[in-house]
Amino acid sequence: MSNFLDIYKADAAELRGILDQAHAMKSARGGRPKGTPDDEEPLAGRMVALIFEKPSTRTRVSFDMGVRQMGGHSMVLSGTEMQLGHGESIADTARVLSRYVDMIMIRTFDESVLLELAEYADVPVINGLTDRTHPCQIMADIMTFEEHRGSIAGKKVAWMGDGNNVCASFLHAAGQFGFDMTFAGPQSLDPEPEFVGYARKKGSNITIERDAKKAVAGADLVVTDTWVSMHDPTSARERRHNLLRPYQVNAELMAHAKEDALFMHCLPAHREEEVTSEVMDGPHSVVFDEAENRLHAQKAIMRWCLES
Ligand code: CP
Ligand code: NVA
Repeated sequence: MSNFLDIYKADAAELRGILDQAHAMKSARGGRPKGTPDDEEPLAGRMVALIFEKPSTRTRVSFDMGVRQMGGHSMVLSGTEMQLGHGESIADTARVLSRYVDMIMIRTFDESVLLELAEYADVPVINGLTDRTHPCQIMADIMTFEEHRGSIAGKKVAWMGDGNNVCASFLHAAGQFGFDMTFAGPQSLDPEPEFVGYARKKGSNITIERDAKKAVAGADLVVTDTWVSMHDPTSARERRHNLLRPYQVNAELMAHAKEDALFMHCLPAHREEEVTSEVMDGPHSVVFDEAENRLHAQKAIMRWCLES
């Protein structure tokens, strides 16, 4: 069994295997009704706990559906309604849950919660987003790029705005899948040097840029995310909006990228803030394919966790 904690923690061949499996499982389903099981049911008789300490639409529904399609059962748990939210230690929670369930997915705030859960659980643990990273999202994003444009190796990704948790996992993926990335945003919201350093060490060209138009020039993929993440204090909203406004992805900015550039956003989007509706609903956008591919990528991640 393996944990899926971050993109940099698996090796590149394992990540490739997960994405190959995801593409295969997606095409094997064809257009069949979403509530029907797959032909193969690798999670038959298995129970998966899905713990949320933050809100979620996509992660919650896609993991739950994925477990069911693979023949397993799932229980969605809210952190605040568990003893976890009332003082029980993470380590004890991990030991207890391991007696009941076969796998745990957690969305939490501090990364230390995820790491402690993984250390003390006897079953695989999956990162469903922390304040620092969001690896399942980026696996779905790479899958989406491959569906539309083939291999992402050697391509240029332009990240616009906040150097947040989603940006961090993109930097990990740059290192693992061999693409280049330009971050454009205000200096105070740069990605952590650790994430940039990782990708550079793996051989990717990572550029930090302040000019939005320069950043997207020649980009194969333009990506952005919300200006205020779930872990950011609401008091920071106005300051962040003022800093990030020059990095809005709009039609004028997209015109500076390659003609066939894709646009991605992990969603939820705040239309007319980090991205205009014109781009979200326009010809470059693959945001709803990304959302769908959360399902397929995570099914492959869960299989890998149990089978590797
Ligand atoms: N992209 C994503 O993780 O969405 P949710 O917050 O709805 O799960
Ligand atoms: N950066 C966002 C991603 C939401 C899926 C957040 O952490 O709120």
